[in-house]
Amino acid sequence: MINVLILAGGEGTRFWPLSRRNRPKQFVQLLDNQKNMLQQTVERINNLVPIENIFIATNTDYKQKIQEQVKEIKAENIIIEPLKRNTAAAIGLSALFIESKYPGSIMIVLPIDHLINDEVNFIETIKRAIEVASSGEKLVTLGIKPTYPETGYGYIHIGQIDQDFTYQVFKVKRFIEKPDRAKAETFLKTGNYFWNSGIFIWQNQVILESIKKNIPQLYDSLQKIKRVINTDWFGKVILEEFKELTAVSIDSGILEKVDNVYVLPGYFAWGDLGNLLGLKYVKEQDERCNTIIGKHLGVDTENSIIYNQDKLITTIGLKNMIIINTEDVILICDKKRAQEVKKIREKLEKCG
Ligand code: GDD
Ligand code: MG
Repeated sequence: MINVLILAGGEGTRFWPLSRRNRPKQFVQLLDNQKNMLQQTVERINNLVPIENIFIATNTDYKQKIQEQVKEIKAENIIIEPLKRNTAAAIGLSALFIESKYPGSIMIVLPIDHLINDEVNFIETIKRAIEVASSGEKLVTLGIKPTYPETGYGYIHIGQIDQDFTYQVFKVKRFIEKPDRAKAETFLKTGNYFWNSGIFIWQNQVILESIKKNIPQLYDSLQKIKRVINTDWFGKVILEEFKELTAVSIDSGILEKVDNVYVLPGYFAWGDLGNLLGLKYVKEQDERCNTIIGKHLGVDTENSIIYNQDKLITTIGLKNMIIINTEDVILICDKKRAQEVKKIREKLEKCG
């Protein structure tokens, strides 16, 4: 039995001002004629897994939005974290919940901040990953060939090819979550590294065992929650337990620490929308390498990203810049510093 877990509880702070606290990027419709990232993720995997086996993990604030936007998913398949405690807690809670419904099943974990255009290859790779995860106590991730020294991703140092399969499966030597720039550059030069796509495939039991060994605090909380899962105590206990939990990602909490990670290269077009530079995957670039979404008129404008929801933007001699114009905020930012929009959000929060 195969189930899908879509992780839709992130805030997407590096996607500000398109992403806001009450409207994170998974709910933003980027092009007029396009579905948002959450809807696209559900649709894509629904080619392989029936809708009743697709679950979404999120927190209380986004529950209603999710129900409105993906009406085909039943309320009982939306797993609610009472507080935001990062992906290890979200995955642990969901594994517990799904395993109680479908014992012995496999979980495909999907983030919602990617654009994947090559659906046939995507589904083929997932099918293979399911085969690998079914074959034992393996934590499987899909790897993407890196093209530049991104510091916002996890890196996977590949080891031996696993001979049990007729296609490429590598044992992972080391998993390094979000290295600094110097390390990322070295990884790129060495050549036997992949980016971690954040797409994982494993048996619920296997990930729960890894949580037990590596994040015992989370495992203890999950056990307490399990005891009350179908009782009136559930709401109270889950809140108390989440309050005490340390927020940790699945990547640094588990994948960096264990030695049973395997990677399958993902030979499909993958674009990460982690920060505003990702907008370049949303629409084809013009002849001067600009991504223009909305009204714009330019003279000698190149290698820039312009996203406009309001009146005409005009530019002269603009190079390597990002301009985002929403109904209430304009952001003008050097492309090299796209990761830093978080700082503006922090400043805004300080000023109230
Ligand atoms: N339910 C839930 N609860 N979902 C969450 C939470 C949470 O507390 N926090 C984040 N998410 C969701 C996000 O919405 C996204 O879909 C996914 O989990 C991954 O979280 P990100 O915050 O986007 O992680 P990242 O981009 O910094 O890093 C991850 O993805 C990279 C690839 O895009 C890591 O897995 C990296 O290793 C990887 O390279
Ligand atoms: Mg991300």
